[in-house]
Amino acid sequence: MIRIIKTIKEMHQIINNHKDRQHTIGFIPTMGALHEGHLKMMSMSAAENDITVISVFVNPLQFGPDEDLASYPRDIEGDMSKASSVGVDYIFFPSEAEMYPSEPIIEVKAGRLATVLEGAERPGHFDGVVTVVNKLFNIVRPHKAYFGKKDAQQLAIIEKMVEDFNHPIEIIGVDIVREADGLAKSSRNIYLTQDERAEAAHLYQSLSLAQSLYDHGERNSETIIKAMRTYIEEHTSGHVETVAIYSYPELVEQYEISGDIFISLAVKFSKARLIDNIIINK
Ligand code: PAF
Repeated sequence: MIRIIKTIKEMHQIINNHKDRQHTIGFIPTMGALHEGHLKMMSMSAAENDITVISVFVNPLQFGPDEDLASYPRDIEGDMSKASSVGVDYIFFPSEAEMYPSEPIIEVKAGRLATVLEGAERPGHFDGVVTVVNKLFNIVRPHKAYFGKKDAQQLAIIEKMVEDFNHPIEIIGVDIVREADGLAKSSRNIYLTQDERAEAAHLYQSLSLAQSLYDHGERNSETIIKAMRTYIEEHTSGHVETVAIYSYPELVEQYEISGDIFISLAVKFSKARLIDNIIINK
């Protein structure tokens, strides 16, 4: 039976107990509003570890002043039944006061990796992410932690944080789960109007176009980016905020493509800002 744990103290006791019994622990940090992308990570963890813990915490530190912190979808009852159906053992569901009882003084900074792409669009966002993930890693002390490749920049930053802070945790990057028409699953898709939802499938089509240009030998980033922008502008009413090609996981902008890259986009619809990407290994 799945259990909801609200305090750090109790979570510590439970983890100590499992560690005493040599159990391996898999962990998926989330902000709730679970979708199939999350459930895939949870199923993987349940298959690979003795115990699976998830956290559901809408982390205020990673939201900017004009972002959707107040309206971010929250549904703990739904999350609980979904998580239970894929073998999750514990949901760590702390209050804001439990996680941040006083103004934090010591800050964790994501540094250079956070100055580009989503980090440039959302100042402070990745500092908030690394701060909370550091805390969650110390609370849950998992052997493996699972992160979606949809947030590829977040995944690269977490991998670097684990290396720099010597967390004894294996980070597993999990492939993007898509709707039948290619739209990447996201908790924010519910903000799309019906027309925008239909148009949003073209975001993935634009990435497929980029993949096909690459497969046909195109290595000039500007050419690929221009083709993607034109495609999105012609097929959606969204405002194209970013189409970019960066090395992965170093996150250095590429002009002539040579090594492993990730091609990412961010498109703003009336109430939803969607991101998507593909990673191309050389
Ligand atoms: O990817 C997310 O949902 C969040 O950034 C995370 C990792 C749960 C940290 O709040």
